[in-house]
Amino acid sequence: MKPISKHLLYELSVQSPEWKVQYLLQFHQSLTRKKALSFREDFCGSGRIACEWVKQSGKHSALGLDFEAEPLQYASTVNQTQLSIPQQKQVSFKKQNVLKPTLKKFDLIGSFNFSHSVFHERADMLRYAKSVLKSLNAAGSFFLEVAGGPDFLKEDRHEKIIKVPGVGRVKQVWEQHQFDPITTVSDYSIHFKLPTGDWLNDAFTYHWRIWGLRELREILSEAGFKKTLILWPEGDAYHPVETAEHEPFFIAYIVALK
Ligand SMILES: C[S@@+](CC[C@H](N)C(=O)[O-])C[C@H]1O[C@@H](n2cnc3c(N)ncnc32)[C@H](O)[C@@H]1O
Repeated sequence: MKPISKHLLYELSVQSPEWKVQYLLQFHQSLTRKKALSFREDFCGSGRIACEWVKQSGKHSALGLDFEAEPLQYASTVNQTQLSIPQQKQVSFKKQNVLKPTLKKFDLIGSFNFSHSVFHERADMLRYAKSVLKSLNAAGSFFLEVAGGPDFLKEDRHEKIIKVPGVGRVKQVWEQHQFDPITTVSDYSIHFKLPTGDWLNDAFTYHWRIWGLRELREILSEAGFKKTLILWPEGDAYHPVETAEHEPFFIAYIVALK
């Protein structure tokens, strides 16, 4: 059996790029009254969302930023090459720290799967927000995917089976380690068990500060965004709300408008 990439396993078990592109676009349009054509995927890893973005039309373009060479290598040699030749020219990847603004400006910038939680200091989160604001076009939007609720903070382990074409059934384990109530930092890890019985232990590990929605909104306003909204899950759709009922676990989006 040929070696299986941990990035493919991650994409199949964690990501839903088609849903993201369709949904976030609709919200961008209804909030700004403009179509988003250019997209920057921050913390892009294997760049699946950037590659999905350019499938929309020949006018759509995307840039993925990550400061690690290894996931970017996968992005450009696997995901980018699966696009049509014209689409391949509409997407690019760059090894860059997201704390640094890009020269090119974008209609929509996203930090998905809680990636901005790598910043533990308020000063760094503020710097990131300012850098995104600088990198947005007028009427641009910034989407941050945020998880929370008490169940996200307790030591726990969730397993699920994913079907990997040509490989078979792979077990994915999401492990939550001890939460520190003083620093509000917690460790998380993803492991995979392959059909051969071999484990890919700690295929991905995260050392995240668990930020509250309210403190992130305050930082975004301080950075200069003119408005922030919360998209909150209700049934199988997201709606803009200002208050919500207590949930043991939630995934919400903050949208910050330039
Ligand atoms: C959680 S993963 C990517 C998740 C992916 N965006 C998704 O939606 O599933 C985080 C990635 O962020 C990258 N990263 C972490 N800090 C970064 C920074 N300051 N600048 C750029 N990339 C960073 C890591 O190299 C890693 O590939």
